[in-house]
Amino acid sequence: MALCTTKEMFEKAYAGGYAVGAFNVNNMEIIQGITEAAAEEKAPLILQVSAGARKYAKHIYLMKLVEAAVEDTGLPIALHLDHGGDFEICRSCIDGGFKSVMIDGSKYTFEENVALTKKVVDYAHERGVVVEGELGKLAGVEDDVSVADADAQFTNPAEVEEFVSKTGVDSLAIAIGTSHGAYKFKPGQKPQLRFDVLEKVSRRLPGFPIVLHGASSVIPEFVEKVNRYGGKMPDAIGIPEEMLRQAAKMAVCKINIDSDLRLAMTASVREHFALHPDHFDPRQYLTPARDAIKAMVKRKLTNVLGCGGAA
Ligand code: G3H
Ligand code: 13P
Ligand code: ZN
Repeated sequence: MALCTTKEMFEKAYAGGYAVGAFNVNNMEIIQGITEAAAEEKAPLILQVSAGARKYAKHIYLMKLVEAAVEDTGLPIALHLDHGGDFEICRSCIDGGFKSVMIDGSKYTFEENVALTKKVVDYAHERGVVVEGELGKLAGVEDDVSVADADAQFTNPAEVEEFVSKTGVDSLAIAIGTSHGAYKFKPGQKPQLRFDVLEKVSRRLPGFPIVLHGASSVIPEFVEKVNRYGGKMPDAIGIPEEMLRQAAKMAVCKINIDSDLRLAMTASVREHFALHPDHFDPRQYLTPARDAIKAMVKRKLTNVLGCGGAA
């Protein structure tokens, strides 16, 4: 088994009414925790790398770690660039062995987004790589660039056919009320997603895979655990798992999750040091941290994605 694209994964997910998890990776323990969970559940998997992750760990290390995970587990795994900000980073990831890239032109005008996305698609498709585009703006923080709530905007369903046909993208990320990070809704605010927008988009693009970013649930027990062991996180609210299950049954074939893994890992490390203040061997705290990632991914595969057994 070698690294694969998301093409077959998405075809099966669309037909099967489930979604594939796309988890952000930054180091060996995160990759191992995710892939061990997926292997036990026999789940197809997308491992995604942000510009920040490439800067932190270096492209070559992440590439080799993911190749090792494919060899170790035998799972279909797609290695994907998350939020490619320009043509150059997409080209670099394609040339460096990724099978899937996202070009995020959502901050540009429609015409500029189309032109940039098409340029990436042309380069990628010639090399057997698939491309995710984005229409609509999510609120939140990526790579320290913050999109204020006021600047976020839902995807306009009237634009999606033109965007997909002009660019040739293989999947499309849309904005329906999710956002990046742990603080998706204000304290007291009721989480809501625009399923009507998703429904309209999918009617205009029958059979076409839709992507949901900013889909962590920010499970209260993990925020409480971080704070119980010395953390100082303000009230954090995420997307209820039930809503994500509903999206997965509709046209959403890829669900992006990062913050929930960060929370699980941080809660574990904080707990470890609170209970074992004398420990200083990194393996002592990274072993339970890796197990915490694994348990969180198992929870996602079962409670949210429904893709267990589909590999
Ligand atoms: O959408 C953003 C992901 O959570 C990656 O975050 O850019 O801080 O690596 P990052
Ligand atoms: P969360 O911050 O909700 O985990 O979203 C991650 C994401 O969309 C990565 O692209
Ligand atoms: Zn994202």
